[in-house]
Amino acid sequence: MLLTVDEFNKIANFVTNKYGIKLPIGKKVMVESRLSERVEKLKFEGFTPYVEYIFSRKGKFELSELIEHISTNETWFFREPEHFKYITTYLRKKDITKKIRVWSSACSSGEEAYSIAMTLEELKETEVPGLDYKIWCTDISNEILQKASMGIYSKGHLENLKKRHIDKYLDLKNSDKPRITYDLRSKLIFKQFNLIDEKEYQSIVHKFDIIFCRNVLIYFNRDHQEKVITHLASKLKIGGLFMIGHTETSIFKKIESLKMIRPALYERVK
Ligand SMILES: C[S@@+](CC[C@H](N)C(=O)[O-])C[C@H]1O[C@@H](n2cnc3c(N)ncnc32)[C@H](O)[C@@H]1O
Repeated sequence: MLLTVDEFNKIANFVTNKYGIKLPIGKKVMVESRLSERVEKLKFEGFTPYVEYIFSRKGKFELSELIEHISTNETWFFREPEHFKYITTYLRKKDITKKIRVWSSACSSGEEAYSIAMTLEELKETEVPGLDYKIWCTDISNEILQKASMGIYSKGHLENLKKRHIDKYLDLKNSDKPRITYDLRSKLIFKQFNLIDEKEYQSIVHKFDIIFCRNVLIYFNRDHQEKVITHLASKLKIGGLFMIGHTETSIFKKIESLKMIRPALYERVK
């Protein structure tokens, strides 16, 4: 089953305009393979009627399925561990009297946010007993947010966790499906949020102490990358931390309000 170049371009333009994700022609095979499942499930005879359907009034809901299939959700616990270590260094230096707010802004299936929560819990147990926190977890995909909020992972998926993390923060009663404990899950708030939609930022009234925006900027074009970084930086407190993925450092154009502390790690200075 193949998409014509016109059909592919129609899908690619929609995905880039609405979600910021670049889809150059080299991704055509990937898009065909990911969408063929939908074409079969909805019993269309090929891509042509499917593409007509998604861009018709009746196909509005299928457009949101489209992004579920096209975005890349790969993630794992304690990915790029330097960031989690630095949170500890950073919070040790601070006099914490209020709840801290963290935003995992392309959280995928939740491993990043739960790794932050485990880091903060350990700090609370050992050095900063007054530490209280909430983690805002957002993503474009509703399906992946549901998975994240369930906090259920396969055993194989836990391999980047230390034994002490598994012992403390996973409920193994149903050992086929280890689940993040209720206490940890209750620290996370889930919400759909499109990073390239400027209007959505207006609804955020508070400022964050730490924002993670890792391994998502790489899918955006330069214009969107700069806008997203600028918007997110404006939602950080002065002195707050901003993290991007280590493979994304070359796309980071100088944003005046952010000072680099080390690669992929920035502080809001004004
Ligand atoms: C590769 S995952 C990164 C997960 C995690 N941050 C990490 O570093 O492991 C990229 C995530 O970005 C999300 N995403 C893509 N475009 C987005 C957008 N416009 N707004 C918000 N999230 C988006 C995808 O749905 C996906 O879950």
